Amino acid sequence: MLRAWDTNFHPTFAAGRAVYLQISELIAAEIRRGRLQPGTALPGTRELAKQLGVNRKTAVLAYEELLAQGWLESQNTRGTFVSSRLPESSPTAFAPAASGPVAVPGFRWQDPFELEQPLVAIPGALVFNDGTPDARLAPVATLASAYRRVMQGRGRRNQLGYDSPLGSLPLREALSRMLNQDRGLSTTPASICLTRGTQMALYLTASLLLQPGDVVAVENPGYPPAWQTFRLFGAELAPVPVDEEGLRVDELEALCQRQKVRALYLTPHHQFPTTVTLRAARRVQLLALAARYGVAIIEDDYDHEFHFHYQPMLPLASADPHGVVIYISSLSKLIAPALRIGYVTGPATFITALGRLRALIDRQGDTVLEQAVADLIDEGEIKRHTRRAHAEYHLRRDALANALRHLPGTPVDFTLPAGGMALWVKFAEEVNLEEVAQELARRKVIITPGSRYYLADPTTNAVRMGYAALTPTELAYGVEQLGAVLRQPGS
Ligand SMILES: Cc1ncc(COP(=O)(O)O)c(C=O)c1O
Repeated sequence: MLRAWDTNFHPTFAAGRAVYLQISELIAAEIRRGRLQPGTALPGTRELAKQLGVNRKTAVLAYEELLAQGWLESQNTRGTFVSSRLPESSPTAFAPAASGPVAVPGFRWQDPFELEQPLVAIPGALVFNDGTPDARLAPVATLASAYRRVMQGRGRRNQLGYDSPLGSLPLREALSRMLNQDRGLSTTPASICLTRGTQMALYLTASLLLQPGDVVAVENPGYPPAWQTFRLFGAELAPVPVDEEGLRVDELEALCQRQKVRALYLTPHHQFPTTVTLRAARRVQLLALAARYGVAIIEDDYDHEFHFHYQPMLPLASADPHGVVIYISSLSKLIAPALRIGYVTGPATFITALGRLRALIDRQGDTVLEQAVADLIDEGEIKRHTRRAHAEYHLRRDALANALRHLPGTPVDFTLPAGGMALWVKFAEEVNLEEVAQELARRKVIITPGSRYYLADPTTNAVRMGYAALTPTELAYGVEQLGAVLRQPGS
């Protein structure tokens, strides 16, 4: 009477996963989809084992699992039943069981992102990226052993618990010393919040700063990942042009006269993507203007260390008596993007709030990694690496510049940047850079047309060509291919 259920399915058991678990998942799925209703009697373990062609012990284990999870209940001598406490569901007996993840959500939501073409990686291609470091130069072995040392030491001392949401104190101390001595800032460890890279710093900053409808002035061309973050918080972006002296502060002033500007995001050290350094006079004007109009300046100092000609210009944050600058930097360019260590410093109450917000999103960073990096800074290892990388990137900048200058004819034009990791290479207007990029991709060389960095219509036909991650030989090869494509008829 009790056992109405026939196991009329024929599972094929996958290798590498316990068979009893596969049976219990199968039965739970049949209950979920309503084929087995609450109160339904199940076959005894002996019979189930026979039907499925498995050992009886396996069937017993499967039932035990389902009993423990509450799908089944056992009624003493009467046998095993689908739990009567489960809600009834209408059977969808002939619907195929769900296979793979569901694509369309069964709930309401907003997708704030425009559908972007995913970048297709071409294996083995030579990539002129937008200026990332060469991870082959990074002190990975030293960092790995420092990480291991910190992890073991902290584990032994039971110090692997929660930490300050501002991030590990030793690293904030080390960065505070570096910012004060090398970059002219006046920080304390309490006025620094560590983040997982610049991107998180921008997100946290935007979240505290912006209300829907606020205007954020941005360099045009500029850095789209920052723009997307501001837009996420409802900001309207106002483009400000950039010339050979950096951001046009007069244009910003005109904008401030027309409308309330909440914030300005800029990359004054080596402007992204044009590589121009913001001139001293404009810096002075900009700070005064920001104080006058109450504009928060978000200063993204992403590649401060790599400046080749003269002492690097100090950040805007080093000359900010009015507390208008929020200074953001990271170790992505100095060591490697995969490290995910960035930091923000600015007015003290703002940084305290930033830490509280960070705690809601991520609780804290990788404090073990943070301390390992602090150890390497204290031991002078990061300084040694910076010197090595600095010399190498200088060489590579010149190698790329030379290769481009020696292209037959004068198909390209650029101003040698004072530092950084990329050249902003301009092409004649008639050169179709999308087509050039496609033809180069067929030759396994990747460039990204600079039109992507414009908020509106591009005013320059250019490509940001990163040189830091490629050796001089690789750079020469890439430029040779570029030259060959440019010489093809129709380019
Ligand atoms: C303008 C700019 N800011 C910041 C970064 C670094 O971002 P993150 O620290 O999140 O790796 C980059 C890296 O490409 C960048 O180009």
